[in-house]
Amino acid sequence: MRSNQPQTIYLSEYKVPAYLVDHVDLRFELFEDGARVHSTLSVRRNPESSEDGAPLELDGDSLKLESVALDGAGLSASDYEDRGDQLVIASVPEQFELSVVTWIEPRNNTRLEGLYMSSGMFCTQCEAEGFRCITFFPDRPDVMARFRTRIEADKSSYPVLLSNGNDVDRGELDDGRHFVTWEDPFPKPCYLFALVAGDLVEKRDTFRTCSGRDIDLRMYVEPRNAEKCDHAMDSLKRSMRWDEEVYGREYDLDIFMIVAVDDFNMGAMENKGLNIFNSSCVLASQDTATDAAFQRIEAIVAHEYFHNWSGNRVTCRDWFQLSLKEGFTVFRDSQFSADMGSPTVKRIEDVTLLRTAQFAEDAGPMAHPVRPASYMEISNFYTLTIYEKGAEVVSMIHNLLGPEMFRKGSDLYFERHDGQAVTTDDFVRAMEDASGRDLSQFRLWYEQAGTPVLNVSDEFDQERGLYRLTIEQHIPDTPGQSNKKPQHIPFAVGLLGSRGEALPLILEAGEEHAPAERVLELTEASHTFEFHGISERPVPSLLRHFSAPVRVNYPWSREQLLFLMSHDPDGFNRWDAGQRLAVDVIQSLVGAAKDAAVEPRLVTSYRHLICDSSLDQALVAKMLQLPSEAYLIELADNADVPAIHRARERVLKHLAISLRDELVACYRRNFESGDYEITPEAIARRSLRNTALAWLLMINDEEGRELAFRQFRGADNMTDRMGALRALVNSDYGEDRNLALEEFYQQFREDPQVIEQWFSVQAASERAGQLPQIHALLEHPAFDWKNPNKVRSVVGAFAGQNLAAFHSPDGSGYDFLAEQVCRLDDSNPQIAARLVTPLTRWRKFAPAYRQRMQAALERVRDKAGLSRDVYEVVHKSLAD
Ligand code: BES
Ligand code: ZN
Repeated sequence: MRSNQPQTIYLSEYKVPAYLVDHVDLRFELFEDGARVHSTLSVRRNPESSEDGAPLELDGDSLKLESVALDGAGLSASDYEDRGDQLVIASVPEQFELSVVTWIEPRNNTRLEGLYMSSGMFCTQCEAEGFRCITFFPDRPDVMARFRTRIEADKSSYPVLLSNGNDVDRGELDDGRHFVTWEDPFPKPCYLFALVAGDLVEKRDTFRTCSGRDIDLRMYVEPRNAEKCDHAMDSLKRSMRWDEEVYGREYDLDIFMIVAVDDFNMGAMENKGLNIFNSSCVLASQDTATDAAFQRIEAIVAHEYFHNWSGNRVTCRDWFQLSLKEGFTVFRDSQFSADMGSPTVKRIEDVTLLRTAQFAEDAGPMAHPVRPASYMEISNFYTLTIYEKGAEVVSMIHNLLGPEMFRKGSDLYFERHDGQAVTTDDFVRAMEDASGRDLSQFRLWYEQAGTPVLNVSDEFDQERGLYRLTIEQHIPDTPGQSNKKPQHIPFAVGLLGSRGEALPLILEAGEEHAPAERVLELTEASHTFEFHGISERPVPSLLRHFSAPVRVNYPWSREQLLFLMSHDPDGFNRWDAGQRLAVDVIQSLVGAAKDAAVEPRLVTSYRHLICDSSLDQALVAKMLQLPSEAYLIELADNADVPAIHRARERVLKHLAISLRDELVACYRRNFESGDYEITPEAIARRSLRNTALAWLLMINDEEGRELAFRQFRGADNMTDRMGALRALVNSDYGEDRNLALEEFYQQFREDPQVIEQWFSVQAASERAGQLPQIHALLEHPAFDWKNPNKVRSVVGAFAGQNLAAFHSPDGSGYDFLAEQVCRLDDSNPQIAARLVTPLTRWRKFAPAYRQRMQAALERVRDKAGLSRDVYEVVHKSLAD
């Protein structure tokens, strides 16, 4: 049982383990009512530990201890102490073998940590601290051991038995049972252990590595999903090739396996040689997965594969170093996705997530550094800060060093630390040693929480031909941190002349061949840069490519933003100028009179985007997306969500009415009858026509409605079918909405991944996702409280995307979420703690909302037997 008083764990209290485990021998007897786990550990005292004669302490959680033996001799209950969450043996020799037998009940495991059942199969999830739910073990990543695993089960129910490494033995047992033995030659922390047993079909392929070795690639899925593996398999092969070419990293085992399971807390897990995926993050067919899903699958397959080096071969010393593997690996998978598609579009997507969600986290009660100094429950620290900000920090190193030095640095890091459990500091030191650069101030990015704010001002001196740019940085206070030091910030800039030309950036008078873009390195609280030879006031293009995860304030006029939208040579900043303009227009309408005018130049610029087919259509598709409600809230103080929602909708409708004919033309121009392809161009076409459709239905356009139905029924792919369904669901025609939803359901009722999309399109919609309808979805036969994907697709989509309904002024949305969090806390605390996030942002909102959010949080806080997971989140967000 978990202790009731959650304790705080501190980085400063890190101690090397007193004992090391060199080898683990596991035998699993799997039965219908439970599993018996026989574990034999080869243990020795850690020579680096100063704790002489320390007791042996093994972690355990929800285990029934059956027996303990030391060097073959059974121990009696007085020789050890079973503390529930620890098995302690007071005195042990320098070196010994410890054998422990435990009984566990995977069928009753609703937390989905450790060994559990998902649609009739056994599977595991051990990161971060799930291995202790399987057997007693020093469950910390700096204890690395070689694993040998024998799995025994009924042969007809569980013909496939998998674990890490290579299968070295198999055979028949009595009573229709069989066994397979797996051996993993690479020492690993127990969080990378995996086991799967089930009735699965196998899809095979091979990959020849750069050194000419043939790797067996295998995917294991339920028989009904056999036709949904190709995209993941192709993505895997592309990832393997890319990691060889870009990082010089070759795969190391002879087999690489991927398993798809329906019940999974996260997206996917990088267990050595045996990656386990949430079905929704790996299975795809043209008919059931949208373009976004195809791209997400490619990225996640790559991400988990890349962990084989950044995470498995070189792992984390402790969980404070989580970003060492996650931030770096997100950076790597972003680079990969950029190389596979459109780099500008990928950058826009990453920055959108960062600015909308990570900035909000960094400004909220759970704000923490990329390398946190403390935590209560580590599962709560798989955050946007660890992942996305962590990736930005690596990306800044990449930009400061340049690609070649960065590669030298990563080579040195992998070589120096292969087989070790290390820290983010070791990573930075490898980058320093390889490049000769001093990153000491840069390290503050790992230590200080909060998003730096850059206030930029400028001056133009006509007489001297001088343009002066002054940049001040400050980092806001965050819980437990104030008076922060200035950080080392790479700030990419360009200057545009009045005809849109890129001006040379001359920092020293007389300098020849000055570049048109520079990365200014900010290290002080304030810097002034003087650009020479400037004959007229330029328009600055700031923070190009989003060169650092910061907020930039500069008093752009709408005229300047329109100018940058069409002239900035940096595609990212063209998009960003459009976003800033749209934000400005929407913000000016929040709370304004109903008939207040919408900026006519916004309409003109959107018309240009829609009609000029010479523009990069992938970028246009992105530029047409108005800033989300979530982003507008993030930018606001005392947010009044319904007012923001109305202002945004007003702009959308105004654009749709003004550009009605252009939208119909855009729809028709982008309609295609050829074969379905997943190229950036084809994705852009589908995005453009579905945006056109959505806008037309917002204004109840009769022709749009016909087009939507025709597309809905005639589509040969899920992107178009879902695009049309979403447009119909969000229209005012209630009958059409119900008809389309019903047709869709009947067509796909057998496919859980599609039904999840069907749930979320309703829960996220203002029209279809009001509370009574949400309750009806929860009662739907396809809904299942035990399945995290279903919970996310209804409760998560409602609270995270249907913002006007969630922030209903009577507080009913908050009460609803609090109730569902309490209900889930008993069965799956990890999911409950993630789901509560929207409530923790209460300080962002107008006072009336704030109070109701706080009250809802207090109800969660007061629930009896609250898990450590939810306890930490709720207490921190209610604290001052
Ligand atoms: N190691 C994580 C999975 C994980 C996270 C396990 C938290 C246990 C607790 C995995 O590599 C990961 O990061 N998965 C992401 C997807 C990825 C593409 C960012 C996920 O599951 O969301
Ligand atoms: Zn990861």
